[in-house]
Amino acid sequence: MAQVGSIQSWSLGVMLHLVLAAILHQGFATVAPPTAAPHKDPSAPEQGKYNLTTSNGTTCLLAYMGLQLNITFNSVSQNKTVQDIVNIQPNVTKSTGSCESDVASLHLTTDAGKTNLTFVFTLNTTTSKYHLSEVSLSAAWPDMKDPLSANNRSLDYLRGTLGYSYKCRKEQTLTVAQNFSINTFQVQVQPFGVSGTTFATAEQCQLDEDDMLIPIVVGAALAGLVIIVLLAYLIGRKRSHAGYQTI
Ligand SMILES: *[C@@H]1O[C@H](CO)[C@@H](O)[C@H](O)[C@H]1NC(C)=O
Ligand SMILES: *[C@@H]1O[C@H](CO)[C@@H](O)[C@H](O)[C@H]1NC(C)=O
Ligand SMILES: *[C@@H]1O[C@H](CO)[C@@H](O)[C@H](O)[C@H]1NC(C)=O
Ligand SMILES: *[C@@H]1O[C@H](CO)[C@@H](O)[C@H](O)[C@H]1NC(C)=O
Ligand SMILES: *[C@@H]1O[C@H](CO)[C@@H](O)[C@H](O)[C@H]1NC(C)=O
Ligand SMILES: *[C@@H]1O[C@H](CO)[C@@H](O)[C@H](O)[C@H]1NC(C)=O
Ligand SMILES: *[C@@H]1O[C@H](CO)[C@@H](O)[C@H](O)[C@H]1NC(C)=O
Ligand SMILES: *[C@@H]1O[C@H](CO)[C@@H](O)[C@H](O)[C@H]1NC(C)=O
Ligand SMILES: *[C@@H]1O[C@H](CO)[C@@H](O)[C@H](O)[C@H]1NC(C)=O
Repeated sequence: MAQVGSIQSWSLGVMLHLVLAAILHQGFATVAPPTAAPHKDPSAPEQGKYNLTTSNGTTCLLAYMGLQLNITFNSVSQNKTVQDIVNIQPNVTKSTGSCESDVASLHLTTDAGKTNLTFVFTLNTTTSKYHLSEVSLSAAWPDMKDPLSANNRSLDYLRGTLGYSYKCRKEQTLTVAQNFSINTFQVQVQPFGVSGTTFATAEQCQLDEDDMLIPIVVGAALAGLVIIVLLAYLIGRKRSHAGYQTI
């Protein structure tokens, strides 16, 4: 009697183990970063810490972000259209700009003035929401047949709420024009309502929230399964005891 019971609990224990192992394995496989990243060349850009200060010394815009430009242009040396991926190097990039009550523009100059990039943020004072509404680029690289200038005034990226900062750890692609897009990495911006020199509470982007959802769902599924297996085990034990008694 006792032997049958112990064999049953042993096999249930093994099953529980296997199920747990399978789930944990799958969970980790899902959470692990994708190994086949779409582009590795060049490596992810360094996060630059760009900020704007008004004439009386108060910080009015904070922007921490890693920026990678994806530019299509006519190459002189290769005599054809090429795609160049260039990281913005924070230590050789200067930030200037202006802050108004409902418009803030951040102008980045890098590469000894051969690349100029401007971000314009707009605040809707009715809804208290802000977003990146405009990006312009002018680039005059030595290998370019003609200097490139691109501008788009109808963008709607990096949406945040007044009083909060916008944060996104994951890579995002901001398409500006047919031959120009920006890949952003590790972004935290606050173009309005900055008090002091630090970011307000961050609003996480959807991409990051989706990322956090996976472990939560896996955890919940795991907990549910443990409870089900435990219940099955307890009920099975009770039944088998009852069964032996009737024999
Ligand atoms: C100076 O800073 C205060 C806030 O500390 C602000 O209200 C005011 O508009 C600023 N003045 C200028 C000229 O930027
Ligand atoms: C650059 O942009 C082109 C399309 O314009 C796209 O096919 C390519 O994947 C992009 N590369 C990177 C590294 O973002
Ligand atoms: C960029 O794309 C636009 C069309 O979207 C085109 O008119 C322009 O010539 C392109 N510039 C370069 C340098 O390729
Ligand atoms: C560039 O390529 C075009 C055809 O794509 C060709 O006609 C021209 O001769 C080439 N120029 C040079 C300098 O190689
Ligand atoms: C900027 O940083 C890069 C590495 O991130 C380094 O290779 C380069 O020498 C630095 N340039 C200057 C001017 O400090
Ligand atoms: C602010 O948002 C509201 C609602 O989305 C919209 O109707 C209004 O046109 C926006 N105002 C501005 C100045 O963009
Ligand atoms: C970038 O801006 C600087 C300063 O405003 C200017 O001297 C330079 O010519 C600009 N570069 C390009 C490529 O437009
Ligand atoms: C500007 O961006 C919007 C939204 O990404 C896009 O639909 C539009 O085609 C862009 N305009 C130009 C001139 O590339
Ligand atoms: C703003 O940027 C400058 C230059 O990088 C830096 O010295 C300063 O500490 C920054 N201020 C804040 C509030 O981050």
